Amino acid sequence: MKIALTGIKPTGIPHIGNYLGAIKPALELSQTCEARYFIADYHALNSCKDPAEIRRMTLEIAAAWLASGLDPSKVLFYKQSLVPQTFELLTLLLAFTPKGLMNRAHAYKAILQSNSESGRDPDDGVNMGLYTYPVLMAADILLFDTDFVPVGNDQFQHVEMAVDIAQSVNFTYGRDCFKLPQPIATEHSKTLLGLDGRKMSKSYGNTIPMFATEKELRKLVMRIITNSQSVEEPKDPETCTVFSLYRNFAEPDQIQELRDRYLAGGMGWGHAKQELFEAMNAQLAPLRERYSELMAHPQDITRHLEEGSARARELAERKIKFLREIIGMD
Ligand code: ADP
Ligand code: TRP
Repeated sequence: MKIALTGIKPTGIPHIGNYLGAIKPALELSQTCEARYFIADYHALNSCKDPAEIRRMTLEIAAAWLASGLDPSKVLFYKQSLVPQTFELLTLLLAFTPKGLMNRAHAYKAILQSNSESGRDPDDGVNMGLYTYPVLMAADILLFDTDFVPVGNDQFQHVEMAVDIAQSVNFTYGRDCFKLPQPIATEHSKTLLGLDGRKMSKSYGNTIPMFATEKELRKLVMRIITNSQSVEEPKDPETCTVFSLYRNFAEPDQIQELRDRYLAGGMGWGHAKQELFEAMNAQLAPLRERYSELMAHPQDITRHLEEGSARARELAERKIKFLREIIGMD
């Protein structure tokens, strides 16, 4: 079986864009691959130095994946910081990573540009963790003989860098020290839209959190921006945020039915939103319930992560031993 691996940054409770665009596809992939999904907590340290915040976000994101259906007996579910072999491999890989490669990373270049636009020092606010982020990510991936890396498009460059670094090691020692991973786009062919009709994103503040209460969910759905057409007018489902969300939550016959009502006219936005709310709530309610149960027993979440991390360490240790021999450090 092929190995699929992805890192989950602990950045608070996911929104439904993250659910449909990242969590659900990764869980689907775990049906056909041996999946290794981990909480990338050391990646979060570059920007967050509050221990309580790190702990809280780690629990929340782990609970979100478990509530979404991740089965820790089928998926190797672990915490990066509990697999210290990652950091030994990082040190090894650093010796094979040209500095210039890091200079070309999109995320780093974006910071340089925003600093220069606002007249600050080019490297203002850039720590070495952030600068070498792609190498740590390469270590995460290469440690586990990964075939596929399900990620959003913004992470493709990082996976390609992992391939470059792996090839350099393989070439140097004349053998296949590492498998070459392949990124797989998890993003929906259609990006999920937020309340204001732009892409749903934390940075736009237009999100619907996955575990909003029923009341909050209804309130958010009612806030979705629509045009000012009257009840009588026929409406275009293709350009409507409400309909685009409905598509992701309703059954095919329900979608057709609502489409017909849009085109026929005589339906107000309040009605369309009510339909959307009901379809979303039907899908999200069981997840919300599982999430609250999990968060009420955080020790269970921690136990899952500790057990997974113990198994991950065994696999990682084998790989590190193999590599130490190759580089002459056995
Ligand atoms: P945000 O834009 O809210 O900060 P992230 O960049 O942290 O979200 O995205 C995490 C994952 O969720 C990525 O794999 C990304 O592809 C997916 N994702 C985020 N927003 C959406 C969206 N609106 N539609 C589909 N997928 C999304
Ligand atoms: N950088 C990824 C993100 O921002 C998270 C991540 C860390 C990751 N390590 C990884 C993803 C390894 C895939 C494989 O979303």
